[in-house]
Amino acid sequence: MKIIVVGTGFVGLTHAATTSEYGHEVYAYDIDAERIAAYQSAVPAQIERHVNEPGLAQVIAENINRYLFFTTDITDVIEGVDAVFLCTATPPQYNGSTDLSYYTAAANTLAALLAKRKDQRRVVIVNKSTVPIGTARYLEGILREHNVPNVGVASNPEFLPEGDAVEKSRKPDRVVVGADTEEDLRILRRIYSQFVNHVRIRYIETTPETAEGIKYVANTLLLTYISFWNGVGARLSETFPNVRMEDLKRGVTSDARISTWGSYVSNGAGGSCFGKDIQSLIYQFKSHGQPAHLLQSVYDINEYQKTYLIDRASREAGATFNQKTVALLGLSFKQRTNDMRDSSSLKVVEALLGRGVKAIRAYDPLAMHEARRFFDPEKNHLYEKISYHDSPREALAGSDMLFISTDWEEFRGLSGTIEKTVPPPYLIIDGRRMIPDYMELVKRGYGYLGVGSAYLAPSADAASVEAETEAAR
Ligand code: UGA
Repeated sequence: MKIIVVGTGFVGLTHAATTSEYGHEVYAYDIDAERIAAYQSAVPAQIERHVNEPGLAQVIAENINRYLFFTTDITDVIEGVDAVFLCTATPPQYNGSTDLSYYTAAANTLAALLAKRKDQRRVVIVNKSTVPIGTARYLEGILREHNVPNVGVASNPEFLPEGDAVEKSRKPDRVVVGADTEEDLRILRRIYSQFVNHVRIRYIETTPETAEGIKYVANTLLLTYISFWNGVGARLSETFPNVRMEDLKRGVTSDARISTWGSYVSNGAGGSCFGKDIQSLIYQFKSHGQPAHLLQSVYDINEYQKTYLIDRASREAGATFNQKTVALLGLSFKQRTNDMRDSSSLKVVEALLGRGVKAIRAYDPLAMHEARRFFDPEKNHLYEKISYHDSPREALAGSDMLFISTDWEEFRGLSGTIEKTVPPPYLIIDGRRMIPDYMELVKRGYGYLGVGSAYLAPSADAASVEAETEAAR
């Protein structure tokens, strides 16, 4: 099949590259010439400056100029196209609604080109980015205005988590396709032929509106699940003495109906999707006169979670931040990505600066380049207080306390580095429960304040320390 993918951010680039693996002729199109040049170079470091996804550069290198083509102009490739996937950015607006201006501009350009086709075979225009319910219908209107002949619309939402995108594209849990006609469904079945009769992968055909809704319900349910663990599970262990977070988690998630995903309590879930999608769905409900109490609470709990440990540190550990030096480990919104969009670390930095810290010594294995962009001193001179370091050890050196914000696996072995680098009294604020042997540190005079734990003061009584250490093992 001949396919055009419009927009080459995380969603578009992954979709274009992995679709080309199945021998389709895929044209990845973007108006950003710098991006296209980087992808066309097929040099991993160049590609990863725009989209840093494990294995993606290799897929591009293997298929480029064979099945995969990059372009800033689709005028010459529009003839004979079977499907166009719209993967443009759909950022949030101040009131939570989705900004469709990039989407609308791309749809209009495309419609104008399609209207002039000589080959008038059936073409289906597919929404892949997360767009509000009713956007496929809106697209239909744009195509009608341009008198595009023999065209259909479809919704085929993306469910890829960042960091696992290539793997998950090859083995998705499900493929959801919403379209109005058998003709359009047939085109998509040919594009996804490897999944249609797969024994494990569900291939779901439905209406465009249902497909759009599936994406919002899925993402907001996932965030609800995380917020449930943060707002109930972690809170329980923080509030009542002798409740052990790890045991609580094991006890609850051993029910086959309850997944362990989402039970990793945290200082909030970030990323470009959850926060944006829940705000958009709240807005969509409200604009239809519907209440959205549950979603609003989930959103509020998640936002609260991003900085509440700083308040707890003052309240429970008597910490003062004014003129203190804080080591900040982890900047990306989760492990295995350099993406900092809506990352909890952004809120942590603002809160620390707001409390008058002297310096923030930051380290992240992948996101340092991104961080310099987000914390540009030209935008806010206070960002001059942030310094960047090549290892956790360097970031810790000379600090008064530590804040862990991302679940990078390499932080699990931190306790030895902490002991060697920063002598007690020293406060460890662990937003991800990344230090499994935290009781060892408490015994040696460190204060530990973790999500899902009551504050453990260095002077903790020896017997309960022993019992907790046993449990942590
Ligand atoms: C999310 C969904 O998981 C994907 O299915 C969806 O396609 C994607 O959004 C999207 O709409 O494009 P993603 O944002 O890449 O994917 O990341 P997740 O792995 O879902 O993590 C989101 C946040 O939740 C991260 O900050 C992560 O650390 C946090 N999280 C996750 C927790 O705090 N606890 C957990 O147990 C799991």
